[in-house]
Amino acid sequence: MKISNIQQVTMAKTLQLFAFLCVTFFVQHTLFAQGEALFKSKCSSCHQIHKNGTGPMLSGARQRWTDAGEGDLITKWVQNNAALRASGASKRAAAVFKEYGGSQMSLFTDLTDDQVNQILDYADAQPKDDPAKAGANGGVQDPNATAVTEEEEGGLGFIWIVLAVFFIVIILSVGGVRRQLKVASTGDESYNQLTYWEELKTIAWKYRGITGIVGLVLTIAVVVVVFKSLYSINIMENYQPSQPIAFPHETHAGINGIDCKYCHNSVAKSKHAGLPSVNVCMNCHKQISGDGKPFAGEVKKIYAAAGWDPSFGPAGGYRNTKGKPLVWNKVHVLPDHVYFNHSQHVVVGGVDCKQCHGDMTKMKETAKVLPIEELNKVEGNIKLTKATLTMGWCIECHGAKEVTIGDGKNGYYDEIHSRLKKNKTLYKQYLANDGKLTANELGGWECAKCHY
Ligand code: HEC
Ligand code: HEC
Ligand code: HEC
Ligand code: HEC
Ligand code: HEC
Ligand code: HEC
Repeated sequence: MKISNIQQVTMAKTLQLFAFLCVTFFVQHTLFAQGEALFKSKCSSCHQIHKNGTGPMLSGARQRWTDAGEGDLITKWVQNNAALRASGASKRAAAVFKEYGGSQMSLFTDLTDDQVNQILDYADAQPKDDPAKAGANGGVQDPNATAVTEEEEGGLGFIWIVLAVFFIVIILSVGGVRRQLKVASTGDESYNQLTYWEELKTIAWKYRGITGIVGLVLTIAVVVVVFKSLYSINIMENYQPSQPIAFPHETHAGINGIDCKYCHNSVAKSKHAGLPSVNVCMNCHKQISGDGKPFAGEVKKIYAAAGWDPSFGPAGGYRNTKGKPLVWNKVHVLPDHVYFNHSQHVVVGGVDCKQCHGDMTKMKETAKVLPIEELNKVEGNIKLTKATLTMGWCIECHGAKEVTIGDGKNGYYDEIHSRLKKNKTLYKQYLANDGKLTANELGGWECAKCHY
């Protein structure tokens, strides 16, 4: 007796259905992932999903525009809200602008219609009371709260579940076929009485060697995944908050060769690198107004912040208004319990900005946290494997970066360095490990050095 045709057809259909479901899930997942990434990098500094913040909550935004009879205009709004408002074509635009006291949303002329839709799809698909998601999207002003991995891990978990179901179906189908074959070959109908579970147990026992190995591999896999996800808690690679002015590093530090320290003037002296005040911009931009160039609008924002009026007097002048300070959003952010010091790294450690921030002289957009793969591509960088800004990243570099001692760059360290130099046995012992003296051997792996 053969497997009946009907059975073959049902099996084929089940497999097809699952293959189809898998493909759909994968496609949906990638589209969502894009929407999610865009939301995080462009919108999350002002918008939350389910709560009004600087801007209105994004879930249901499309519905609100559709209700106003302007569902097709929402993409235009996101791309260039100023133009849409100016055109007077949208009542919703005027209303929401008024509701938010006339505070300006940034322009996103670089986003395509599809990308805007991906963001809005993503926003609408977020369940309201999922605590993990709520945590991830709430309090977005603090990028630490944007636990990207948590969500991505959730997304991955989804794929794993689909795959698991897929394999269970295959196993069950194969079990069914086996059962039919057994009944056919032995003529013993009692096989049909076995439940799947009983049969599975029999098979598992028969192939106990393989079952054991598979079990072991699965256990190890789970342990590894759990450890990896713990190591990458709070990953914020690619984080790029929106900024008040589209300031490109390439134009300044690259093409015009302005030294990093001109603007980040405390980087060699203190813990903080510091950000330039509007006066620093004005040193040059009093002259460079960008008139007739595409970026004239951006320079006007500098003038507004400084209270400068180029048409005041013969050469322009400061109006009495105070202006409003430029508030740059912080891009690289460590949690409060971590101590990080720039001068320690840049001066004493001799680590180049590129190692941690990438080549800013080629950065065409505003700054962002570069993923470790990007940092590894920069020439001269030590290659690391752990995600940027995680504890694993700091630790890994401290174990790899060689330290030159006693070059008199910093009193405190000179003292530590010279003490080490005098302690010849210890020094030799350090060198004996790997032939070099690394940051960890000077205490770079001590919890208290990095944690308050
Ligand atoms: C700098 C802050 C800021 C950023 C960044 C920002 N928005 Fe907004 N957004 C606002 C404000 C403020 C409003 C309220 C309207 C106004 O005042 O112009 C708004 C309104 C909206 C609305 C209308 C909501 C409604 O209920 O009608 C949508 C849709 C929207 N934003 C989408 C986006 C998307 C998508 C992004 C990212 C690509 C984004 N916004 C980025 C500040 C921002
Ligand atoms: C003309 C002034 C200027 C110069 C020169 C300049 N920067 Fe910046 N930098 C800024 C401004 C303004 C910001 C804030 C806007 C942004 O994030 O893009 C910034 C932001 C940054 C950030 C992100 C800060 C954060 O919040 O985490 C890094 C990193 C950075 N700069 C590195 C560099 C390096 C490295 C150089 C030299 C190669 C450099 N900058 C030269 C003005 C400057
Ligand atoms: C060893 C890695 C490393 C090196 C090297 C490094 N930075 Fe940073 N940078 C960081 C970290 C980490 C932060 C986030 C600090 C925080 O949140 O406390 C940061 C933050 C910044 C900021 C934001 C403002 C601030 O002070 O927090 C600027 C601007 C900046 N870096 C510029 C530079 C420049 C310019 C150089 C080179 C002269 C440089 N960095 C070298 C790791 C580094
Ligand atoms: C040392 C001089 C100098 C300083 C300081 C300076 N800029 Fe510039 N900036 C320039 C030059 C030069 C250009 C290029 C002008 C051109 O291409 O015609 C430029 C261009 C720009 C542009 C347009 C760039 C583009 O390619 O779209 C923006 C925006 C800008 N600056 C913002 C700022 C801001 C914000 C600050 C303060 C944080 C600042 N600049 C400080 C010299 C400076
Ligand atoms: C690219 C390599 C690199 C990365 C990444 C890095 N460091 Fe360092 N760190 C060094 C070097 C080099 C020294 C200097 C050691 C010396 O000369 O004594 C150092 C020194 C330190 C010290 C002083 C240690 C002492 O002995 O007093 C602290 C604290 C520190 N780093 C914290 C951090 C933290 C926190 C991070 C992650 C946010 C980090 N570092 C990331 C290379 C790195
Ligand atoms: C070279 C610097 C460095 C050293 C040494 C270090 N840490 Fe950390 N640690 C960090 C940084 C940076 C973070 C924040 C990572 C993040 O936000 O993803 C962190 C985070 C943590 C966290 C919190 C995880 C979280 O969710 O934010 C714990 C707990 C922790 N460290 C414990 C330790 C212990 C225990 C030691 C000593 C064995 C240690 N650390 C040594 C840099 C360091």
